[in-house]
Amino acid sequence: MATGSFPITRTTTPKPKPADDGLAFGKVLTDHMFLMNYDEGKGWHSPRIVPYGPLSLDPATSVLHYGQAIFDGLKAFRGEDGRIRLFRADRHAARLNRSGQIMCMPEIPVDLVRQSFDALVGLDHDWVPRKPGTSLYIRPTVIATDVMLGVHPAHSYLYFLILSPVGSYYREGVKPVRILASDRHVRAVKGGTGEAKTAANYAASLSGQQDAAAAGYTQVLYLDAVEHRFLDEVGTMNIMVRIGDEVITPPLHGTILDGVTRASALQLLRDWGLTVTERPIAIEEVVAAGSNGTLKEMWGTGTAAVVSPVGTLGYKGRDILINGGETGEVTKKLYDAIVGIQYGKTNDPHGWTSVVNPVE
Ligand code: COI
Repeated sequence: MATGSFPITRTTTPKPKPADDGLAFGKVLTDHMFLMNYDEGKGWHSPRIVPYGPLSLDPATSVLHYGQAIFDGLKAFRGEDGRIRLFRADRHAARLNRSGQIMCMPEIPVDLVRQSFDALVGLDHDWVPRKPGTSLYIRPTVIATDVMLGVHPAHSYLYFLILSPVGSYYREGVKPVRILASDRHVRAVKGGTGEAKTAANYAASLSGQQDAAAAGYTQVLYLDAVEHRFLDEVGTMNIMVRIGDEVITPPLHGTILDGVTRASALQLLRDWGLTVTERPIAIEEVVAAGSNGTLKEMWGTGTAAVVSPVGTLGYKGRDILINGGETGEVTKKLYDAIVGIQYGKTNDPHGWTSVVNPVE
């Protein structure tokens, strides 16, 4: 299929844009969306940009019943120089395909995914907010569109891309959060779909999240599903712990997402000469480090929150205060470094950003 420029139907009723102050996460969507269909035997076809609006789906559409759905999430940032940059768009496009592979969905050429980002963000460029800390969240999604009630991988799919101007993911902003290590709820199991960014993993996290919120915590720290011992993910983020001078994070062994912010953080930490280990880490080790004073910092990484400091870890009825409940030095340095690259304030030694040209 020819790529590069897509047919555009512009909205005739542009929406008012929200003020940059007080933007929540994902509540406002922009004026346009990108759509593309897949049919077995035909491949991906009919890419197009149309006014943002509801999708019409038959009630028997398979995604509504069996959840064959994947998504990804990345951001566009407006720098002080006025240029709009995407952060690690190729890696996000590749991860969308990795999720698709796990969920038995057809591959989408990475170039085509990239071009859909550039085309839609370029068209809705005025929606990229200007205030520091804000960005335009980009949500590519693929759903199974077969109309049938049998359980099997679908033969037809819809790719859609929508955009939302966002502020901080957490109401706290970039402030230490309270997390609860759950010995009851699990998120994913080896051999399952934990590595995919698929709707079901997020559905599976809701009841744990609800219980944690009722107990006064912001997020759940999931432990492994077999022994309920090893750290898995925290809410929608990857988790990192600094014990003494070593930064430890769980390995990619199928239950956790291969986070783009995770990979970026590990690269920067290694660039800075820190000792970084990807290995299973038991909650007892973290608790013991909390008691003997070697638990220096803990943070989550994710596209939405970037780097989120953990101030308090709750486990079995006890709260461990980390770094006096304050943001630690490595957490802060990482946050500043990643955000600096994203907004084009510092140089980009690994070539992670790409500039999007506005379409008038
Ligand atoms: C992210 O950190 O980017 C996420 O996955 C959060 C998203 C599901 C809202």
